[in-house]
Amino acid sequence: MVLWMALAGGVTAPLGLDSYLPVPEDNPLTAEKAALGRALFREKMLSRDRTVACTSCHVEEKAFSDGKPLAVGIEGRVGTRRSPAIVNRVFGKSFFWDGRAKSLEEQALQPISNPKEMDLSLAEAVERLRESAYAGEFRKVFAREVNGEDLGRAVATYVRTILSGDSPYDKYMAGDSRAISAEAKEGLRLFRGKAGCIRCHVGFNFTDERRHNTGAGKIDAEGLFKTPTLREVARHAPYMHDGSMATLRDVIDFYDKGGKANPRLDAEIRELKLTEGEKRALAAFLESLSGRVSEGFR
Ligand code: HEC
Ligand code: HEC
Repeated sequence: MVLWMALAGGVTAPLGLDSYLPVPEDNPLTAEKAALGRALFREKMLSRDRTVACTSCHVEEKAFSDGKPLAVGIEGRVGTRRSPAIVNRVFGKSFFWDGRAKSLEEQALQPISNPKEMDLSLAEAVERLRESAYAGEFRKVFAREVNGEDLGRAVATYVRTILSGDSPYDKYMAGDSRAISAEAKEGLRLFRGKAGCIRCHVGFNFTDERRHNTGAGKIDAEGLFKTPTLREVARHAPYMHDGSMATLRDVIDFYDKGGKANPRLDAEIRELKLTEGEKRALAAFLESLSGRVSEGFR
């Protein structure tokens, strides 16, 4: 069950976003809980050797991605996927590149016990928090002793506050015709028209929240990955679930060729025959989607 909740504390939503945040009924969003989650998101004691925090892989300046093709966790262990940007996840319907987590609460606990990320059992994480100054914070927010579910609830609540909007594109859409260049306007036309990007990158968050096979990366059984938001995309190269494309231009060239042929290629992915100027225009449009990233109601 989902409850539609106005932004807390009189904070107004960034320009361009829906002003209501879908929040689960059993985990209401409060400023105190978000502040606790914010601290936990930066807390290295949640990794076995106390060297890795969520922020090790989700760096604020890179729209909470990390600039690496594949995530690097505890003891330099390299994972199999790229750390995705974390913005506007409150509007998400499923989480991880393959959508395997159905809520942010469920998602938040997985990196802690993942042997390639933080490698700490949930029981041990709870034990460490109970013996720390966090014990009192949890009691204030949840009115009970630290437990795994509340840890997930606090972190998920913070993640819900990470929002991106207020971009040149949003200003343009709100009526400021000079907010983006003529080239970016041409890119927007292509995005909606000839290039067909909008078929999947749709709506104010530029994602249909569904999984598609574009042929990017090594093709496994299904090759299905979730359409990522394109907000802040220019801030967090490299791209795709495996970080296999270094620049936005590489991504555009990939789509221009019709993705990578494979038996399950999505029907919406086909050769585009874009001109050099059209490719540049699409890139200029994508760059206009970088705005202001706010978090923790800051
Ligand atoms: C070692 C690097 C690393 C650490 C540490 C890490 N993450 Fe991630 N994060 C990733 C990777 C890689 C993925 C994608 C994994 C996948 O799709 O299988 C991901 C996915 C996510 C997503 C899903 C985003 C989406 O749109 O689907 C969220 C939210 C997230 N992480 C939050 C967190 C939180 C909260 C923590 C700390 C408790 C954390 N991460 C710790 C690398 C990391
Ligand atoms: C059939 C649906 C679909 C269409 C059409 C589509 N995309 Fe995508 N897009 C995706 C999916 C799914 C991914 C993630 C693929 C992966 O990681 O393997 C993606 C990834 C991306 C990324 C990388 C983002 C990141 O964080 O790594 C960019 C940039 C992008 N698309 C731009 C575009 C542009 C520009 C167009 C039009 C030329 C377009 N897309 C058309 C579904 C689509």
